[in-house]
Order: sequence, then structure tokens, then C-alpha cells
Amino acid sequence: MTTTRVLTGITTTGTPHLGNYVGAIRPAIEASRRANVQSFFFLADYHALIKCDDPQRIERSRLELAATWLACGLDPELVTFYRQSDVPEVLELTWLLTCVCPKGMMNRAHAYKAACDANATAGEDLDAGVTMGLFSYPVLMAADILMFNAHLVPVGRDQVQHIEMTRDLAQRFNHVFGGGRHFFVLPEAVVEEQVATLPGLDGRKMSKSYDNTIPLFEGGTKALGDAIARIVTDSRLPGEPKDPDTAHLVTLYEAFAEPAQVANFRSELQAGLGWGDAKQRLFNLVEAELAPMRARYAEFMAHPDRLEDLLMAGSDKARGLAQPFMAELRQAVGLRRMLALKRAPHADSDGEQAGRSKLARPSFKQYREADGLFYFKFIGPDDRVLLQSHGFAQGKESGAWVQKLKLEGGAVLAGAPVVLTDGVKLEDVLEALSALASA
Ligand code: TRP
Repeated sequence: MTTTRVLTGITTTGTPHLGNYVGAIRPAIEASRRANVQSFFFLADYHALIKCDDPQRIERSRLELAATWLACGLDPELVTFYRQSDVPEVLELTWLLTCVCPKGMMNRAHAYKAACDANATAGEDLDAGVTMGLFSYPVLMAADILMFNAHLVPVGRDQVQHIEMTRDLAQRFNHVFGGGRHFFVLPEAVVEEQVATLPGLDGRKMSKSYDNTIPLFEGGTKALGDAIARIVTDSRLPGEPKDPDTAHLVTLYEAFAEPAQVANFRSELQAGLGWGDAKQRLFNLVEAELAPMRARYAEFMAHPDRLEDLLMAGSDKARGLAQPFMAELRQAVGLRRMLALKRAPHADSDGEQAGRSKLARPSFKQYREADGLFYFKFIGPDDRVLLQSHGFAQGKESGAWVQKLKLEGGAVLAGAPVVLTDGVKLEDVLEALSALASA
């Protein structure tokens, strides 16, 4: 069974509200528990710098978001949870992608175009107030995704264009530098259509910009109760029948209730349940789900050092993948250790050419030992053994790993059942693997 890699970025500005919880946090955490899914969750704090130059706000939001996701049940053992800015390879990749990114493509990015349009309306210079960060933000996002070769990226509608750009950049890089190899998987956007957009207090979509939000954890039980008391309803009195289909209070209730509870709530409203009592029921329901999470949230907020440790462990996991992959990408673009350059073949006599190409081609050797197990070695251009595999019960297991290493190179090295020969540098292995791939 193959594993699907799913990656989610969370921009660290602002404090999450109940709409974020129902629309994004809860479904994403549920999805991360599915079998055959490898999930990456990261705090997109470099993205946050694009919109926000208030260091305190960045700091606070990183803390709150890390605490929120963990309190809501994100399991850092199961998923890879890290801060974007703790994985410097992402920025290295951003530059490699920037160098294959057509400027015209960025001109068409929504966020940039919206800024230009607003400037045009205001009669300003089109680029007034536009930073290079805003302009090239989709490239950073592409690097987030391609660094871990995510297959699926759950996003809102507004982000779909960025995934298309990511695919475009992946294709360009593969084409220019891949030499037949596909360094990057082409990711797909997943727009969750069936996930409810939660209505806010006034019935419009719950959003900070409408000032109609219900807080998730901030302000505790009291703030939750106060917000629920302010949900707008019609003016029907207790005893008068209510129409559950037109009441957004019911939509809020549905986001937290079992179907049987919903049916019951609806018929009670039709039978004349007062809005005050209905709000009390909604409060009880939401509070039952949030209270244990809120307690965990408070724990984390009181112990930021625990968050720090968890996030650093997460970035170690992430870098375990990113470093070898980045080393390969550097090889691919020509950022290599200095070696005597190979001369063009036509300049050589046949004999010399044969000798040189023998020297230049690393190889895998598969064999069986007296213990009955199957093994392989990876031999470098100078006949040194670079990698030695463990023993496999089946020859085809050994063969499958050889194939995988040939095709995917350093990207799978970290998980491969091999040991590096003493004294051999990781760079030498990566170099030999990419020489093999481009041969
Ligand atoms: N730009 C995304 C947003 O505003 C956040 C984000 C950054 C992201 N990098 C990502 C989302 C990579 C998915 C994948 O919502």
C-alpha cells in the first residue's frame, strides 16, 4: 500500500476562532489519523512576515497556533509538525525555484493582482506598497510543498492558483535539471467542498474581517458564553414555532452535534423552544467539546518550552528529509564539490574514453552470502564501497531497494536499509547517486 503525503501550511498571523476550528483544524487533524497518510503540518512563519511587520504579533501567533493545533489533538509523533523558519532548506529551494520561475507567472498571482488593482483604483503607482515578499510569495509556497514532495495539499479556494503554479515550477525544474528524473512530484490541491463554512454571529461567514467571530480558546468559558449570547436570531418569543432552516444558530449547532441530537433540536425549535434556551443548549454542546482542549491549550501556553521542544523535534524530522534531498538538488543544478571536470568525449581517443567512463560510473552489486541472505553494495566511481545494505530474506526486496535508490537517489537514502562505509562522506554518496541517475 503506498503512502500519500499530505501537507498543510498555517500562516501565523492572528488567533484562531471557532470557524477555523470547524473549517480547517478539526478536519485536518481527523485526516492526519487516516491509515496510509503521512502528514506534514507547519507554521508558515516566513509567510506571516509578508503581511505583518509586528514582531510581537508574529511571536504571539506562532505560540498560539502551535498550542492550538496540539491542544486540538494533532499528534506530533504521528505527523511531522514544524516551523517553516526552522527548516532553512526551504529557503534554499525557494531560490532554486525562483530561478526557474517566469516573472510573468508571478504578475498573475491573485494576491499581487489584488494589490495592483487596489492601487489602480486609488490612482497610485501600481506597485505602491508591494514588497518582493508579496510578489514572489507563491514561490515560497511552492518550496514548502516540493521540499517534501507532497501529493495532496488541502487548501481554501483562494489558494488553488498557488498549487497550479507549484506544479508548473515543479515541471520546469524537472525538465531543466532532471535529466529524465522526476525530482518533484506534481502536487494536487484538495478543496474540501463538504466542510461547512461556519456562520458567524450575524449569519455571514465567520471571519475576523466581519468582526462576527466566536473565540476558540481565548477568554475561556466566559468569552464563549458571551459570544453565543450575541448570536443574532429572529424576534419570535418562547412558545412560538421557529424555522430551523433559516436560523444560523442551528447551523452552528449542527457543526458539533450528532445527527440524532440535531433532529431533536430542530423539532424542539419547531415546537417553540425559546432562543435563550436554544443558546444554552448550543453553549453546552460546544463547551463539552472544547473544555478538555482548552485545558490542554492553557497548559501549553503556560509552558512554551514544551512547545519549543516539540517543534524542534519536528524540525529535526523534517530536516532529516529535506537535507539529503536538498543536497541532491544542489548537485542537479551544478552546485557541486570541486572535482576535475570530465572532458567532452569527442576530444578523447577511444581507449581513454573507455577508461574514463569506467571511472565515472558508480554501480550497485547484488549478491547472496553464506548466511543465505541477499545483499547489495553501492560502489563509487573509484571502486570504493560507499554503501552496504542489510541482509534481505528475499532477493526481490534487495532488488527493489536498488531500483528505488537508482530512481529516487538521495531522497530515499535516509529511509534505506543501508549503512555508510566508515570514512565515506554523505556528499560522496549523494554525488555518486546523482551521477548514476543522470548517466
Ligand atoms: N498561503 C497559505 C495560506 O495563506 C499558507 C501556506 C503557506 C500554505 N505555505 C503553504 C498552505 C503550503 C499549503 C501549503 O493559507
